[in-house]
Amino acid sequence: MTAYLSARKINKSFLFGGNKIGILSELDFDICEGEFVSILGSSGCGKSTLLELFAGITRPDNGSILLCGDDITGQSGHLGYMPQEDLLFPWLSTEQNVLLPARIKKRDLAQARAEIKRLLPVFGLENHSKLLPYQLSGGLKQRVALLRTYMTGSHLLLLDEPFASLDAITRLQMQEWLLRIKEKLELTIILVTHDISEAIKLSDRIELMDKSPGRFIKTYSLSQDLKNNPTEFEMLKKEIVARL
Ligand SMILES: Nc1ncnc2c1ncn2[C@@H]1O[C@H](COP(=O)(O)OP(=O)(O)O)[C@@H](O)[C@H]1O
Ligand SMILES: [Mg+2]
Repeated sequence: MTAYLSARKINKSFLFGGNKIGILSELDFDICEGEFVSILGSSGCGKSTLLELFAGITRPDNGSILLCGDDITGQSGHLGYMPQEDLLFPWLSTEQNVLLPARIKKRDLAQARAEIKRLLPVFGLENHSKLLPYQLSGGLKQRVALLRTYMTGSHLLLLDEPFASLDAITRLQMQEWLLRIKEKLELTIILVTHDISEAIKLSDRIELMDKSPGRFIKTYSLSQDLKNNPTEFEMLKKEIVARL
């Protein structure tokens, strides 16, 4: 299979107190259509920086980002990006928040509204369309943020720790739900997380990142058999902990 999204020889540094600090070094990455890949790494290793590069929010110092072979380095708007802090506008209802990508892209709003009406039940939000963010639970807010991300029109979603702020039970429910949504809407997902169980449970593949500078150090391909086998699951978890 050819890659849907690729990163080639990405270098990224930031200026810190007048010094140039290398954050990502010679980083390569590929994901195929329909794949679910989790990026696991300790805090500060450059996971969010990498997603921002994919999303075109920032540019690499050198290297390129390719979408279906086309160079999209530094271009935003191609992929659905959900940042670490969900930024729902507090004064906008669910419906208005998820309509924003269509407004920004100057899409036909009647058509976008019809699409949202069809999607609200898929996201379990049919009874919450008129509510403001403060009236929603944490899990529901994340669903709104995910629907808004999906409304960018991309089937490739970049999710930066989407469930980090949720309680344990809601987090488990949202993980199951994300897998269902992925199948239903035929999504390709890159998930950044520091939750090892979450990564094993959800992904087809885990890419482990090390820091200073950030780079991938290990790939784990995950079979359904491994996920269903508690002993193998725990062993893999231990191995990953030891490497992080
Ligand atoms: N805009 C920025 N300017 C300077 N340093 C930054 C900037 N963004 C991130 N960094 C630094 O880059 C490193 C990686 O950050 P980040 O990608 O947020 O890590 P992670 O998401 O893996 O926790 C951190 O040391 C962080 O302080
Ligand atoms: Mg981060």
